[in-house]
Amino acid sequence: MRLSDDFISEVKYRNDLGELAASYMQLKRRGRNLVGLCPFHGEKTPSFNIYTENGSFYCFGCGTGGDVITFIMKIENLDYLEAVKFLAQRAGMSMPEDDYDDSMSRLRTRIYEANREAARFFYQKLGEREGAEGLAYLRGRGLADTTIRHFGLGFAPDSRFSLGDYLLSKGFTEAELIAANLVFKSRSGRGVVDRFYNRVMFPIIDVRGNVIAFGGRIMTDQKPKYLNTSDTIVFNKSYNLFSLNNAKNSKSRAFILCEGYMDVISLNQAGFTQAIATLGTALTMDQATLLKRYCDEVIVCYDADEAGQKATARAISILRSAGLVVRVLRIPDGKDPDEFIRRHGDKGHAAFKNLLESSGNDVEYRMYQLRSGFDMTTPQGRLGYLNEGVKLLSELDNPMERDIYASKLADETDVAKPSIMEQVNRLTRRKTSARRKENFKKIQRDLSARDDRVNPQHADNLRAVTAEENLIAFLINNPDKLGHIDGNLKPENFITEFNRKLYVYFYKRIKNGQEPMTSVSADFTADEVSKIYRIVNSYSSIGSTPQALDEYISIILAEGSKLTSRDIANASADDLDAYLKKLAEQKK
Ligand code: CTP
Ligand code: MN
Repeated sequence: MRLSDDFISEVKYRNDLGELAASYMQLKRRGRNLVGLCPFHGEKTPSFNIYTENGSFYCFGCGTGGDVITFIMKIENLDYLEAVKFLAQRAGMSMPEDDYDDSMSRLRTRIYEANREAARFFYQKLGEREGAEGLAYLRGRGLADTTIRHFGLGFAPDSRFSLGDYLLSKGFTEAELIAANLVFKSRSGRGVVDRFYNRVMFPIIDVRGNVIAFGGRIMTDQKPKYLNTSDTIVFNKSYNLFSLNNAKNSKSRAFILCEGYMDVISLNQAGFTQAIATLGTALTMDQATLLKRYCDEVIVCYDADEAGQKATARAISILRSAGLVVRVLRIPDGKDPDEFIRRHGDKGHAAFKNLLESSGNDVEYRMYQLRSGFDMTTPQGRLGYLNEGVKLLSELDNPMERDIYASKLADETDVAKPSIMEQVNRLTRRKTSARRKENFKKIQRDLSARDDRVNPQHADNLRAVTAEENLIAFLINNPDKLGHIDGNLKPENFITEFNRKLYVYFYKRIKNGQEPMTSVSADFTADEVSKIYRIVNSYSSIGSTPQALDEYISIILAEGSKLTSRDIANASADDLDAYLKKLAEQKK
């Protein structure tokens, strides 16, 4: 189902991108545009641009671009229709009724409903005889009934049909339940069987309050200990975090990152509602970026075992590069937060608060980790620590931080601070210049052809692609020139498929009297949309005179009559003859 151009234009008109984006990020004015740190990838120098003239954005760091609808799709993790609906609501507009119900969107809604119904079912079971074992298990782990209710914990009965049968009786279809990953098609091919049975259930709820998935724990020490919903169209385990819905409402802007569901729940019960956990996988950059929206600081609180410490080191670097302040909390005696809190009973809150307050920042943590690898009683050991320590300090961006830890390092190794600082500064200088070069290269690479996923023919046709893109940007900005272009250049003349597709798309819209860009974010994939907005926003820097236009046209035509080396390799002798003859004629 398609929304009309008029409706989309109105939605865009009433939602100013700059204003909207400012509620998600900090923006600075630069000339006519706004710039800021990109919310879609971690970065320290701003490459995210908002073009106020045409209401679009483009990030030169990660190559993401689009209009206000694309922005909301990405930042709120919505599909196209949901994003339009979100913006329409924000502007006080109502959606045209019939147009809204797109089938994908409806399936999502059905999955949310099925999950919510399933969560209710699991919770209900705790109060029934069938679920007595589950309730006893949760209580046995020290959870109060209010906590169980608050998290909507539940029990999946020991039968392969109870949830499936229940949801089918509620009017859900097998296809919907399979799409929700609540059931599997049964092996016999008849009917469906439950994914979760004989487990205590942890619903995973997103920041908008939708039940998007479940984790289920077995009550014995069988494996797997936890079984989670696989990725579905409403759930991606690398984009979501457990209990972010609670943490987001806590007063704290310093979140506690744990490994497990039970850690988060125990912490909540002890009053720390800012606790969150990943969903059975290592922390991803996407999760760090998501966190950055709701907090400024993350206290990593992983298990004290070796795996936990490795994960800590990884998490520190991911969180830092997302621009978060990081601290590391160490739980004494190799316990996880859940065990620690339980062991302290009524005093759990105070005891954990103590740990929180004494938790060192990540630099202290890493220095401590380094130092424990050296024998500090020998000169060699101290020297080794010194060398590693200097490397660590040179990685810190903040000069004040470097200074503070240089003092600490000086104390620990008995070496004068100025000579430590000298070493650090030397390394830092070397790194800064390397990083600058690397950044520059990256931008070049992104802008250049090699990794062009959207237009795979880019690398082999550099000159043609530049001319094609410039011509398209020109056309979008000067639709009245369509006649002139059409008289001199046919779609067949485009060298690359993707640019031909774009040209035909804009051509048709302009012919139909439609504004070229209005529905781009509905009609192309996310990567294509980004690409299109890069092309459009390069308009100010391309030649935009009639002469320049003719130049683009003649380059495209000339490139089209050239044979590429690949063509030559594949061509027959006759083809090559014909080609050479043509060239000779052109010369005459
Ligand atoms: N996990 C998982 N699948 C497994 C094991 C673990 O998804 N087979 C995830 C769960 O999110 C779990 C987290 O990893 O909460 C941490 O696992 P672990 O430390 O083994 O468990 P705990 O959280 O301590 O679980 P419990 O206290 O219930 O034993
Ligand atoms: Mn545990």
